[in-house]
Amino acid sequence: MIYAGILAGGQGTRMGNVPMPKQFLLLNDKPIIVHTIEKFLLNDEISTIIVASPKEWVNYTNDTLKKFNINLPNVNVVEGGSDRNGTIMNIIKSIEEENGIEDDDILITHDAVRPFLTHRIIQDNIDMGLKYDAVDTVISAVDTIVESEDGEFIKDIPKRDTMYQGQTPQTFNVRKLQNLYEGLTTEDKEILTDACKIFSMKGEKVKLVEGEIFNLKVTTPYDLNVANSIIKGSLDK
Ligand code: CTP
Repeated sequence: MIYAGILAGGQGTRMGNVPMPKQFLLLNDKPIIVHTIEKFLLNDEISTIIVASPKEWVNYTNDTLKKFNINLPNVNVVEGGSDRNGTIMNIIKSIEEENGIEDDDILITHDAVRPFLTHRIIQDNIDMGLKYDAVDTVISAVDTIVESEDGEFIKDIPKRDTMYQGQTPQTFNVRKLQNLYEGLTTEDKEILTDACKIFSMKGEKVKLVEGEIFNLKVTTPYDLNVANSIIKGSLDK
């Protein structure tokens, strides 16, 4: 089966002083998370969408989905974890409890706060996720990437044409990710905050899918302004 996991378990601290985690803020009168879920609802290869939100926001998430008519049997809300991978593991736990895990099950994980992903990106993640155990969505680095360990002096300037910026979705074979994650030490779990890194660190191939510059992550108040401009621009067309 093909599952989508919407990662909405964060508190959005970099958004500053707002009344609720950023995934619930409005973009053109609709919560960011609803924009995101609607994109996944349009792909009929996806059997279930599991939304993970902070424990204290689970009821609010359910109410929000109802309010925006996402009241479907194939959309479930679960509690997020204490970090991003913990949230993904809670989603996998809910898949295991509801349906059991089959060898060829894949999970497309996506940041709730990237509402501008396209159907092409979702489809490429599905197609590549069925072929490879791990898939990452990236764009070529536009700026030169500068590496510094102390934040004071340059350590290295890698060749730009081998540099990419990571976005989401990230897609995984469910069983493989679960096995790799369970094999990590507590220390590794703290370092490996990106699930694709778990695969690459273990020497496993991670297939790249091309993202889009506008598939931005709403992180700061500035990003929220940009997101509002994008959505207004797209409505003017
Ligand atoms: N996320 C999650 N579970 C966590 C932490 C983050 O599902 N325990 C999700 C966020 O809700 C978000 C996505 O991962 O949709 C990207 O993370 P980020 O932008 O860092 O979100 P926050 O952790 O909410 O933001 P901040 O770091 O500013 O607190």
